[in-house]
Amino acid sequence: MTDHAFLADFHAVAAIGATDAGGVDRQAATAEDRETREWFRTFAVARGWEVRVDGIGNQFALIEFTPGAPFVLLGSHLDSQPLGGRFDGAYGVIAGLHAAARVAEQVASDAATPRFNLAVVNWFNEEGGRFAPSIMGSSVFAGIKDEAEMLDVRDLAGISVREALSGIGYLGVDERPEIASYAEIHIEQGRLLERDALPIGAVDRSWYTQKLDIEVIGEQSHTGATAMADRHDALLGAAQIITKVHEVTSLFEPETLVSSVGQLTLEPNSPIVVARRVRLVADLRADDRDVVLAARDQLFRDIAAVETAFGLTVHARDFDVRDNQHYPEAGIALAEECAAELGLGTRRIRTMAGHDSVAMNRIVPTVMLFIPSVDGVSHCEREFTTDADMVAGVRMLSEVARRLVHGALNDAPHDATSLAEATASARV
Ligand code: HGY
Ligand code: MN
Ligand code: MN
Repeated sequence: MTDHAFLADFHAVAAIGATDAGGVDRQAATAEDRETREWFRTFAVARGWEVRVDGIGNQFALIEFTPGAPFVLLGSHLDSQPLGGRFDGAYGVIAGLHAAARVAEQVASDAATPRFNLAVVNWFNEEGGRFAPSIMGSSVFAGIKDEAEMLDVRDLAGISVREALSGIGYLGVDERPEIASYAEIHIEQGRLLERDALPIGAVDRSWYTQKLDIEVIGEQSHTGATAMADRHDALLGAAQIITKVHEVTSLFEPETLVSSVGQLTLEPNSPIVVARRVRLVADLRADDRDVVLAARDQLFRDIAAVETAFGLTVHARDFDVRDNQHYPEAGIALAEECAAELGLGTRRIRTMAGHDSVAMNRIVPTVMLFIPSVDGVSHCEREFTTDADMVAGVRMLSEVARRLVHGALNDAPHDATSLAEATASARV
C-alpha cells in the first residue's frame, strides 16, 4: 500500500459529511457516521478481512495470521464533533487500515509467522458530542462502562444509543476479539509538536479530566410584566456560572487548568419568558488531579453564592471523570526505537484530550502516538495536518504494528497504573 493510496483514502473519507468550511459533521450513529462505516467495511472486505460489529457499535476488521491467536489492535474513531475537523479520529482509523495492509503484505512475504493476529477498530462514539460520555465504545469494550447502561443513554432529542445504532444498522451482536496490545495514532490537537518542529509524539500520560453536569432552576415569568425583584432568572444564574468556570483558571499558574462550558440547554427558550431551567456541562482538565479537585470545590462555592444572590436552586454533579493515565514505558520506548529507525524526530508528550487509548490502556499494553496539528486547532472546521505529517505517521504506525504482531510489547508485565497511583506509590 502506497502513501498515495493512503492520501486518496483519507481525502475520500473527508468528503463524507463534509461541511462548506472544510470540516466534517459525522456525529455518532447518524447517516454520515453510517456512510463512513460502510467505507470502512468496503476497505476490509475488499482485502478478504473479516468484519465484526459488537453490541455497542464498535466496528472491527480482522486479519488472521496465526489461527486462534489474540489480535494486536490498531484504531481510533470515525465519528466527529458537530462542525468538527476532518482529521480528529478519522486519521487514526485510516492510518490503522493502511498500516495493517502494509503489515499483511510484509507477513505474506516473511518467513517468520507472527505471534499475534492483527485487527483495526472504528470505536463507537469517541467524541461524546451527541451521546455523553465520550470514549463510550472503547470504555464498554474495556469493561469501564456498562454496555446496557450506555445503550440507554439518550441525546438531546431523546433518541437512545440503542435506537440510533439500530437505525443505522450497526447494533451488532458479534463476539469481541481477544486483544494482545493496542496502538493508536492521532493528531495532537495542541501546539507542542509544531512548536518543536517534530513529526511524531510518543504519548506518556493523559491529563486528569472531569465534567460537571449543572442544572440551574429558577421560575418562569413574563420578561415584560414581572418586577425585577420578583424574578428567578435561571439563564442569568447560568451566565454567572459560565463566567466562574472560566475565572477559576486564574487561581492557578497559566495553562495548568483548562475549563469551558460547551453545552447549554434552556427552557422554555422564549424571548418573552424569563428562563425556568438551564442545563450546562462544564469541562475541567489539568495534568495534576489536585488542581481539578481544587477548582471543582471553588466552583461549588461559587454556585452556592449564585443560588443565594439570584434566588435559584442549582444541582451540580461530577460526570465523565477520567483519572490520569500513564502509558507503559515499554510502549513509549518501542515508539522511540521505531521513530529512530525511520529517521523521524520524536518527543514524549502528554495528552490533554481524551482518546480511546485511555480506555484500552487499562486492559492491554498500549502505544499512543501523535502527529502535529497546525496551530494546535481541533474540534473546529479549520483543523489541519499536512499530507507529509500524515504519511510519516502511517509509516510510524506500520513499524510499531509490525513489531507488536511479533510480540514486542507482550513480554513486559502490563501495569496500567494511573499517574495518581504511580506518583502516590512513588511518594511512599
Ligand atoms: O473527550 C475528549 O477529550 C475527546 O475529544 N472526545
Ligand atoms: Mn479524537
Ligand atoms: Mn475529538
